[in-house]
Amino acid sequence: MMSKKFSVVVAGGGSTFTPGIVMMLLANLDRFPIRKLKFYDNDAKRQEVVAKACQIILREKAPDIEFEATTDPQEAFTDIDFIMAHIRVGKYAMRELDEKIPLKYNVLGQETCGPGGISYGMRSIGGIIEIIDYMEKYSPNAWMLNYSNPAAIVAEATRKLRPNAKILNICDMPIGIERRMAAIAGLKSRKEMEIRYYGLNHFGWWTSIMDHHGNDLMPKIREYVGKKGYNLDIPEFKADTSWTVTYDTVKEFYQLDPSTLPNTYLKYYLCQDEVVEHSNREYTRANEVMDGREKTVFGECRRIAAAGTAKECGFEVDEHASYIVDLARAIAYNTKERMLLIVENNGAISNFDPTAMVEIPCIVGCKGPEPLTVGKIPQFQKGLMEQQVSVEKLVVEAWAEGSYLKLWQALTMSKTVPSAKVAKLILDDLIEANKDYWPELK
Ligand code: NAD
Ligand code: G6P
Ligand code: MN
Repeated sequence: MMSKKFSVVVAGGGSTFTPGIVMMLLANLDRFPIRKLKFYDNDAKRQEVVAKACQIILREKAPDIEFEATTDPQEAFTDIDFIMAHIRVGKYAMRELDEKIPLKYNVLGQETCGPGGISYGMRSIGGIIEIIDYMEKYSPNAWMLNYSNPAAIVAEATRKLRPNAKILNICDMPIGIERRMAAIAGLKSRKEMEIRYYGLNHFGWWTSIMDHHGNDLMPKIREYVGKKGYNLDIPEFKADTSWTVTYDTVKEFYQLDPSTLPNTYLKYYLCQDEVVEHSNREYTRANEVMDGREKTVFGECRRIAAAGTAKECGFEVDEHASYIVDLARAIAYNTKERMLLIVENNGAISNFDPTAMVEIPCIVGCKGPEPLTVGKIPQFQKGLMEQQVSVEKLVVEAWAEGSYLKLWQALTMSKTVPSAKVAKLILDDLIEANKDYWPELK
């Protein structure tokens, strides 16, 4: 079994994450052997910069892997075992508008939460459905590992519009937070923890964190979080300023439920007033990323291409991203690894909409995920989740039906938006900004 080598296409080849993922794939070849690696993007110029550098890296580190970068769907998706998808429809230019338009109306501007996330969702659905259709046409046995955002809306769209597609939706935020929790607990790896978690994507709670001996780590981690949030004074965990603020803000709402620990993204629903107050309307996270990660990654790609060698390559193995290999291995080798995935509830949370896409632990094997039972959840979380899942479902309905009304309802329903009137003002601005991307709404 281990002798089989896989063919992988990275969709969104021009992503800022691509070089780190290539380095990670190269570091994991013994666990997940690759014969062919392709990049696919709908922006040839952007992808070319990343592809030129990665081609050099591959030539020097793994010359046996066949490499190709293309914008042609047939070429990209033929003879493929796995699609690793991280597209950003509209790129950073549109992320910037998603973040800045709501702020004009004193509503928070965020990539995946509130009106920004809704706006991004309306762009992403079509892009993801298109890739699923290419996969089913050219490599019907392939699996798509999707971490394109906004994952909650994308997952709901694929559930509704492509219910039989072999797509697994996964988010790295719980993984990132668990790495921090493990360090807080004095463990070497998050894999030394056994966790229980439930929620929606970017909207969930850990209910249990134990080590392999059954020791409860929750009290120790909660005590730490009360002082420093999820921030750590360890170089490995150094983050951009805005993320440091986000990790810190957890202090302010984790006490709402003394038996759990929250996902950082809940800050946008539970501290929304403070988030708006501290936002810079002229300079949002999109600007920070364009001036930071995007410049660094593309600068390094151009440098490698000009040098013609990656000997002093500045790209590091994105070890954090190795969960993607864990997921591919679970499918390829039937490892039955327990992972958090975004799946249809279908009774796992017994007192919650069976058709909701929820983020819960699953056993992953060659046939896909088998969700574990969560049981009944408390009124507080249930209420919040019902409101948020309704937003996500209304967005997908709005997209599928071209319904202005449903999108207005979605925005009005979001806990981040104060009134129907403000929702409409934001919606009308977003429609104008997204006219090249959204379906026409009537
Ligand atoms: P990026 O803009 O650098 O890269 C995205 C690439 O996708 C671009 O090269 C763009 O041209 C391409 N693209 C856009 N629409 C496309 C389409 N329809 N078909 C093919 N390619 C298309 O963005 P980034 O910051 O590197 O992020 C990439 C994605 O990964 C985003 O969706 C981001 O939200 C997501 N992300 C998810 C997680 C997670 O845990 N779920 C973590 C990090 C990033
Ligand atoms: C986390 C989330 C992703 C999100 C990313 C944003 O990793 O899980 O879903 O896209 O953060 O990070 P950025 O650095 O682009 O603001
Ligand atoms: Mn995520």
